[in-house]
Amino acid sequence: MRAEVNGPCAVNGEISVPGDKSISHRAALLGSVSDGICRITGFSPAGDCASTLEVLRALGVKIRRDGSDIEIEGTAGRSFGEPVDVLDAGNSGTTMRLGCGLLASMPIQAIITGDESLRARPMNRIIKPLKLMGADINGNGESGCPPLEIRGGDLRGIEYSPDVASAQVKSAILLAGLQASGRTTVNEKAPTRDHTERMLRHMGASVLCDGTSVTVKPCVLSAVKLEVPGDMSSAAFLIAAGLACPGSSVKIKNVGLNPSRTGFLEILRRMGAGIELLERSEEGWEPRGTLKVKHSRLKAVDVTDVDVVAAIDEVMLIALLATQAEGVTRIRGASELRKKESDRIDGTVKGLISLGARVNETPDGMEIKGPCELGAAVLDSNRDHRLAMMWSVAGMLAKGKTVVTGWEWASVSYPGFEGALSSLGVNISAG
Ligand code: S3P
Repeated sequence: MRAEVNGPCAVNGEISVPGDKSISHRAALLGSVSDGICRITGFSPAGDCASTLEVLRALGVKIRRDGSDIEIEGTAGRSFGEPVDVLDAGNSGTTMRLGCGLLASMPIQAIITGDESLRARPMNRIIKPLKLMGADINGNGESGCPPLEIRGGDLRGIEYSPDVASAQVKSAILLAGLQASGRTTVNEKAPTRDHTERMLRHMGASVLCDGTSVTVKPCVLSAVKLEVPGDMSSAAFLIAAGLACPGSSVKIKNVGLNPSRTGFLEILRRMGAGIELLERSEEGWEPRGTLKVKHSRLKAVDVTDVDVVAAIDEVMLIALLATQAEGVTRIRGASELRKKESDRIDGTVKGLISLGARVNETPDGMEIKGPCELGAAVLDSNRDHRLAMMWSVAGMLAKGKTVVTGWEWASVSYPGFEGALSSLGVNISAG
């Protein structure tokens, strides 16, 4: 599938983005071991979250889905059933890493794999701590790539300091800790998204946070109602389009504003972006609100490793915006981007060069000199949802017809993204 964007164009109007992908995964996974029926509204339509539901179903969890409304019957902390087939996490690292956190304590044998991209991603980061807790879990090669074979055990709580700042790693350990003896503590290098901690607390768990350390005590979670806010990482593409495309003004409603997810907005503020917070609600367990974004004159920014952790899924958009900003933008400490669904540093640099931008790749990031006029190009998604969507935004800035090949990958996080853009006035077609 390909998308064609005829630029330049602006984005104008109001929109709500689909439910947050990270929160939806956690709602399904935590709901599956809770005591009772969890009712979730605003569940993400992302292909990744469907993978989580399918893995849970294959483990015997009863799930009813009606669009974005989900009901999950929890096992009240008892084991899932042993799967008869290999579990398939598709393209989703969160499904695999957090799923293994739950499986680690269950006395069943399971094999979990994924698509080509997921099978190349490092799982040692969860294998090591889950083994220390007592699970039998193995992957392939030096990085412990999938398929993973896992047999859960009687877990013991540990105190662990991961080598990498990763919400997926932290969450896998905390989920395993729910069924371990004693306390489980994770000491993070830098603060990562805290959706797991918030949801655990909301469901009755004792979670202690002290700086960048999180401790959980074993418990059975209570079933609750969960209303998932819109996904900041999906909104990020519309925010970038609104800021960079002359004549734009766009309102994004009901978007998640958890401070551990708004690092992107902070970096944009440093670039001089005009983003207004029209409304904010602290009701419930995750803050949310409405943002208004308008076209802004941007200036270059220095992005450091701490910024990268706080905006891990949006850093590439900073690179695209840097092509429109005055001065040299330096992105450093971003080598984790090479281990995502694709090598996002390499893919971003190559794509920006095709568009005519002045970019230099570095081992852990890139430097971009702006401002620069972009020219239409043919760009590939590299089978990576975030690159697919980013190139459509680039197409709005470039003069002429930009073609994004491998467009179908956008549905891994935002099915119908082209429809969302059309509704805001973008000249885009996909097929
Ligand atoms: C996620 C954490 C991040 C992020 C991913 C979703 C999560 O990954 O990139 O899209 O839901 O916990 P890492 O934990 O590997 O940084």
